Amino acid sequence: MKVFQYYIIWGFFMMFWVGCASKTPHQKIGYEVTSPSNNITIGFSLKLDGTPMYWVKHQNKLVIDTSKLGFELKGEKALLNGLKVVAQDTTSFSETWKMPWGEQQEVLNNYRQMVVKLEEKKGARRKLNIHFRAYDDGIGFRYEFLKLENQGAKNQEVIITKENTQFKLTGDHTCWWIPGDWDSYEHLYNTTKFSEIDALSRQKAASLMQTTIMDNAVNTPVTMRTAEGLHLSFHEANLTDYAGMTLKIDPKGLSMESALVGSKRTGYLVKRTLPFKTPWRTIQIGEKAGDLIESKLILNLNEPNKLGDVSWFKPKKYVGIWWEMHLDKASWDKKSGKHGATTKNAKAFIDFAAKNNITGLLVEGWNTGWENWLGKDREGVFDFVTPYPDYDLQEVVRYGKEKGVEVIMHHETSAAPRTYEKQLKPAYTLMKDLGIKAVKTGYVGKILPEGEYHHGQWMVNHYRKVLTTAAQYNIAINAHEPIKATGIRRTYPNAIAREGVRGQEFNAWSVDGGNKPDHTTIIPFTRGLGGPIDFTPGVFNIKLEPYKDKNQVNTTLAKQLALYVVIYSPVQMACDLIEHYGEHPALQFIRDVGVDWEQSKVLDAAIGDYVTIVRKEKGTDKWFLGSITDENARLLKAALSFLEKGKQYVAAIYQDGKDAHWDKNPTSYEIKKFIVDNQTSIDLKLAAGGGTAISLIPATDEEIKNIKSYPKAK
Ligand code: NOJ
Ligand code: CA
Repeated sequence: MKVFQYYIIWGFFMMFWVGCASKTPHQKIGYEVTSPSNNITIGFSLKLDGTPMYWVKHQNKLVIDTSKLGFELKGEKALLNGLKVVAQDTTSFSETWKMPWGEQQEVLNNYRQMVVKLEEKKGARRKLNIHFRAYDDGIGFRYEFLKLENQGAKNQEVIITKENTQFKLTGDHTCWWIPGDWDSYEHLYNTTKFSEIDALSRQKAASLMQTTIMDNAVNTPVTMRTAEGLHLSFHEANLTDYAGMTLKIDPKGLSMESALVGSKRTGYLVKRTLPFKTPWRTIQIGEKAGDLIESKLILNLNEPNKLGDVSWFKPKKYVGIWWEMHLDKASWDKKSGKHGATTKNAKAFIDFAAKNNITGLLVEGWNTGWENWLGKDREGVFDFVTPYPDYDLQEVVRYGKEKGVEVIMHHETSAAPRTYEKQLKPAYTLMKDLGIKAVKTGYVGKILPEGEYHHGQWMVNHYRKVLTTAAQYNIAINAHEPIKATGIRRTYPNAIAREGVRGQEFNAWSVDGGNKPDHTTIIPFTRGLGGPIDFTPGVFNIKLEPYKDKNQVNTTLAKQLALYVVIYSPVQMACDLIEHYGEHPALQFIRDVGVDWEQSKVLDAAIGDYVTIVRKEKGTDKWFLGSITDENARLLKAALSFLEKGKQYVAAIYQDGKDAHWDKNPTSYEIKKFIVDNQTSIDLKLAAGGGTAISLIPATDEEIKNIKSYPKAK
């Protein structure tokens, strides 16, 4: 019988075998599916003991060597082997869908899919389907657990104690990674060889925050470059009713394995009722670093928009009563005597915003509870409908409306999600009554109840409940201390942005001296691949005087401007204090820069070194360029061939001054204007820790007459 089965399996193999006479080491035997342009191939086979295996090839070279798939389950036999293929089918799919807001208007979703249907050879004959999708920019696969036949409803529950998805690498790649923290993604990225990840992960366990760092694991997205210069990024898409995935590192074996975030309260990783599908496990594959940013794989692996028209949310720039708390100029609570959220202060910000083409105002510290927000017993502390007496919420909202500035609500939950869930309805009803369309949420601290973690299944479900409840009130969510971005914004486009990164705030108070100059040259290629980042750029008072003597932002002023283009978000803060902007000439770039895009392109990039991105604003003919570097000064070129042929534009170039330097002279800048067209190539002179921001706005006849053309290259 065994021998018979063996031959049947071999028969299948022969049918789908794509090998030919000249066998190379990269040829594998099994079922394969290739991407639409045949660039990327995923293969699947069963070992003789029925263990499911897959591999991935790029241009016929292995990028993931034969790796295992499967699960360990509570109270039943593991689903790791003993399986047979009962069916396999391959389909193609192509569509172009529209983003309601985003980095680009249209997204091509074109893939070939192979579904392998597996069943246990013996025993309960449990069924497991694996869906593989091959795109030209990467791959995704997910597991589908099917219902058990002839079993009552009560036996349809599965408890996952381990997911055994393996990713076997083909070399000791250069990696950009953060530790596999169960509570926070707010870490600096490490740049090491894969084989060096282990040691550093242990060292980083002494984190700044009270978080739960797993030894020897990394969080996703984790991005790599092979010796041949191929770029890979590992992540997940559509994280729904499941635990977040970290990746356990085997440094010697050059292999990673899924390690799901757990719960000390329940003792399991994931509990589901059959049937269900897991999130997609994804690998973005790009020849250039910029291909990773241009790839829309993560979004394509999510379901289409379920909310319909979300035009009630307008992408916007915003200011806020925020940075002053991080600088200790003001406080969230009232007892300190320097409460920031006052009606007067809010109106001053509204006046400033209205003058500067900024249409949003975030107010933190407006509601009661902040006196006890960092305490141990944080349950019931925050009230999401009651303002402090010196803050007239209704009046601030009214005044904002008069001036064209929308208030963005703030709900800090202090990681007590049950308290928040109890108040969702009254809190969102209040917002709806006032016409407030967006809320920034926050989850600072250890999760209550104890034993749950920010990235476990229980919290994944909380974050989703908040999102879907908010959607019923036409409210958009910008979550801080969130679950990672996995492309959910496609399905629920009220998921406008999130933190989940070491953002600007660390520059104000972090004891390690803040984000290093290379930080922002890494995050677009790692965290940014998941989705929009609420990074909050725009600090002009870079040395943070007179508020801080130990910290500064490790940047030049021009680099702060460039971040509006480099880091994508439909809500971009101009985070500094009004008095630090004043009438600064560089403020013009913040006034002009778009926040919603028809197109985005990466002109040039090397992860951790530099990146240049251009974006065309939706509904106008304006383009914006952002280019940033790490701690090294650089001379880059930007060919403006993306501009409309025959059209002339005014390029306003905001660049580092000749003597600019992120530490020694961060505020030295120059603004130059030239007439340019699609033949122009601009020299980007980036200082150490610096950047360049350029607005490219169609020129009027007057401007063509009066402004010099950009010098032609010699
Ligand atoms: C952490 C958030 O990241 C920050 O932006 C906010 O100001 C504080 N929590 C308070 O909610
Ligand atoms: Ca934070």
